[in-house]
Amino acid sequence: MSTATSTQSGKDTLKNCSVIARLAAHTMSGYSLGRQFYCDDAVFAADMEQVIGRKWLVAGHVDRVRNKGDYFLFKVGDESIIIVRSDESTINAFYNVCRHRGSLICTEAQGKVSRLTCGYHAWTYGLDGQLLAARLMPADFSKRENGLHRCHIRVFYGFIFINLSDQEPVDFDASFGDLAPYLDFHGFADAKIAYSRSYPTSANWKLIVENFVECYHCGPAHPEFCSMHPPEALIAFGAGPSSGPAEAVEKYLPTVQAWERRAANLGRPIGTVDDDPASSHLRLLLQRTIREGYDSETQDGRLASSLMGKRLGCDQGRMYLSFSPFTQVVATNDFAVLFLFTPRSTMQTDVDLYWLVDGKASQVDVEKMIWGWDRTTLQDKEITQNNQAGILSKRYQPGRYSEHERRVDTFHQWYFSQFGLPLSSDR
Ligand code: FES
Ligand code: FE
Repeated sequence: MSTATSTQSGKDTLKNCSVIARLAAHTMSGYSLGRQFYCDDAVFAADMEQVIGRKWLVAGHVDRVRNKGDYFLFKVGDESIIIVRSDESTINAFYNVCRHRGSLICTEAQGKVSRLTCGYHAWTYGLDGQLLAARLMPADFSKRENGLHRCHIRVFYGFIFINLSDQEPVDFDASFGDLAPYLDFHGFADAKIAYSRSYPTSANWKLIVENFVECYHCGPAHPEFCSMHPPEALIAFGAGPSSGPAEAVEKYLPTVQAWERRAANLGRPIGTVDDDPASSHLRLLLQRTIREGYDSETQDGRLASSLMGKRLGCDQGRMYLSFSPFTQVVATNDFAVLFLFTPRSTMQTDVDLYWLVDGKASQVDVEKMIWGWDRTTLQDKEITQNNQAGILSKRYQPGRYSEHERRVDTFHQWYFSQFGLPLSSDR
């Protein structure tokens, strides 16, 4: 980055931080945020600069780019990133911006190409991003200096992470390395996508995250989801390890511990991750039982596909893994669902779900597999959009959280810490 650019970016960072600092001064712990956090373009610009643009975001799973030339576009904010495989061992991420006059190069959401050719004046790039052909250019033009701009990329157990940072991003291995045993157990590196669906949602990204990190709404909004889980588990652990009222946690903990002993005998690595608000990605890993007698998160509790990964048998468990507020994974014995929450603009967020099954699975009952999360996500889309619409009213004011919504407060503390602001308890 040039000195002029880095000075400008420094000024932008200060401006963005001051926008959030001014609003944060009026924010109360234990309450929803003020309207501007959900509706204001200046806040969204600050979020892109300081939060979204600096995190490792999952763009997809390697099954989308199995063969050389396979590509897909990952859009976040105003950015479009080309994820393309250039050989057996390399997946690249390039900004979808032609080095000639800036046109998008790829316009189809996904496809297979031998080269990347811009439709405007036909500049052509290799799958490694090198500029291969540019017609009628002056003699002093250097093709070598006009390759595609690269985006940080890392593939980890089948998940393709990108990072939009202009600087060196936060260290990947330090951020996620300890999750390896869990990802390995579920066989994510070799998993395949059995089904996917998009649920574009007209709401600010924070409302989507807030909704996902509390289970206060599960009873009223999600009959299918609740039917697959013990009610005590949803109260005590519904939004993360010990996220419910202390009394409920104490009552349910022995059940979880007994299950952990059984599950460990069937090969499952036991453990919990519960990052604090000062962490870079606010990760969470929780494993617990589904409803008694159920082998899978399906309507009748029976499997929709073969066992996933290194399981030795059905253990009645499920894993909830949050790589960051933007990426969630829920895994049961025979399938997993990857949730991508990708901010596009102030009040528009892409919600994309990918159902993953074991790489060797030969028969998948797709209807059975998607029964729970497809319905649940449609419900979440509706309630979140209604939440956004209500917040637009002049009568909206921040409301008090219940004891089941503590993790929403944790998310807010993490959000403010991205701007270098003190945690809410210190404000
Ligand atoms: Fe791409 Fe001209 S803008 S070739
Ligand atoms: Fe929900």
